[in-house]
Amino acid sequence: MRMTVIGTGYLGATHAACMAELGHEVLGVDVDEAKIASLRGGEVPFYEPGLPEVLTRNLEDGRLGFSTDYAEAAGFANVHFLGVGTPQRKGSFAADLTYVFQVITDLVPLLRGDHVIFGKSTVPVGTAVQLQELADFLAGPGTSVEIAWNPEFLREGFAVKDTITPDRIVVGVRGESRAEEIAREIYATAIATDTPFLVTDLATAELVKVSANAFLATKISFINAVSEICESTGADVVALADAIGHDDRIGRKFLGAGLGFGGGCLPKDIRAFMARAGELGADQALTFLREVDSINMRRRERVVQLSKEVSGGSLLGKRVTVLGAAFKPNSDDVRDSPALSVAGSLSLQGADVSVYDPEAMDNARRIFPTLNYAESTVQALADADLVVLATEWKEFRELDPVRVAELVSTPIIIDGRNVLDVRLWKAAGWTIKALGRNL
Ligand code: UDX
Repeated sequence: MRMTVIGTGYLGATHAACMAELGHEVLGVDVDEAKIASLRGGEVPFYEPGLPEVLTRNLEDGRLGFSTDYAEAAGFANVHFLGVGTPQRKGSFAADLTYVFQVITDLVPLLRGDHVIFGKSTVPVGTAVQLQELADFLAGPGTSVEIAWNPEFLREGFAVKDTITPDRIVVGVRGESRAEEIAREIYATAIATDTPFLVTDLATAELVKVSANAFLATKISFINAVSEICESTGADVVALADAIGHDDRIGRKFLGAGLGFGGGCLPKDIRAFMARAGELGADQALTFLREVDSINMRRRERVVQLSKEVSGGSLLGKRVTVLGAAFKPNSDDVRDSPALSVAGSLSLQGADVSVYDPEAMDNARRIFPTLNYAESTVQALADADLVVLATEWKEFRELDPVRVAELVSTPIIIDGRNVLDVRLWKAAGWTIKALGRNL
C-alpha cells in the first residue's frame, strides 16, 4: 500500500521506516529541511536502537523516500498518517495543537479524490472531530477526506519492535468509514499473528492513548508514594514491589521506585488530560493526576535533599558525579529528564557537578549548557565526593564498585533508580543510599 507519514520526529520517522519494512511504499514528509535531508541520507536524527538499519535498508530498496513538499505528498498516496508533535502549551497544562491543525490546513486543499488521514499524535479528546470539520471545509469539489484515529503506543528505546509487533492496534472511526478496511490492510502482518485489532469511535481512540499513559504514570507514582512511607518507617520499597508484583492483577512492571518518570510523553500527557477534563467540566475526575505529578516531582527533590544529607548538610564546593542525563536508558531524549533536573538542582545548590551519559550528551549540553560534561564514566567519576546514579544505563548498572572506589574521592553513592546490588557496593566499602530503602 502507498502512504505518507507527515511529521518525521520520533514517532513519524519510526512509523515511516517501519511501514516500509512491512513492504509498503512510504513517503515521509516534514517542514524541517534539515531533518528530511538527514533521513534521506540514512541518518536518524535521534538515538533509537535498530532504527538506522531499518531506515537504510528501506531507502536502498526504494520503498522509502522523504520530502518537504506537501504537493508531492498529496499526489503520492490516498492514505496519510499524521504524526506531528503535540507539546505542552507554554504557560498552560494544555496540549499545543498548532502543528496538527497546520498539517490539515496545508495538506487538505492539495488533495484530489478520496483520502483517509490516520491521526497518530496524542491529542485531547474531541480533536479528531474538529479536524474532520476543518478537512470538510477545506476539501475541494469531488474530494473526500476521512479523519480516523490510530494512536501510537511505542516506547523510546523499543520503537522499532513496538511499531512492527505492537501489543494492540486501535483504530477510531466515525460511523460510515473506509478507514477500518484500509487499516486492516496496512497492519495485515500484525493481524495475521493475532495482534488484537480494536475498532472504536473517535473519542475512545483518542482517550485510549492518554488513559494508557495516565495509568502508567499513576502506577509509577503509586510505588513512589509508598516509597516515601518506606523512608519514614524503615521498610524496603524494592522488596515490597517484588511482593505485590507477584499478584497478576498488579504485576511488577512499572513498579520501579526511584527518580520517577520524565520524557516527552508521560508528563505532558497527564497534564493535557487534566486540562481537557477541566474544559469538559469534569476536572474532578482527574484531580488525582495532579497528585501523581507532585509525587513524581518530589522524588527529584528527595535525591537533592539526600545528596545534601550525605554531604554533611551542604553541597557547596562538593564534587558530585551524576551518571545519566537521558530520561531513561537506551534513549538520548532529555525532555523533562529527572536526571538533568537533579543535576541542575545540585549545581544551583553550589555543587561542582560532572555529568556523563552514553548517548544524551549533545542534547543535555544544549538545554543545560552550564553543567560540566565529562567524556566518559571514568572521567566523570574522578575525585567525586558523591556519585548519583540517575539513569539506569547498563554501563552504570554493571559498574564494578571496587574499581569505582579507586577513582572517587569519597565512596558515597545514591542509587536513584534502585538498580545496584547493595551488598556488593557495601562490601567494596561504599556508603550506599537509595529511594525508599533504609540502607
Ligand atoms: C511512554 C509509554 O510507555 C508509551 O506507551 C507511549 O507511547 C509514550 O510514553 P516512553 O516515554 O518511551 O513511553 O517511556 P517509558 O518506558 O514508558 O518510561 C517513562 C518514564 O517512566 C521513564 O522516565 C522511566 O524511567 C520511568 N519509569 C518507568 C519509572 O520511573 N519506573 C518504572 O517502573 C518504569
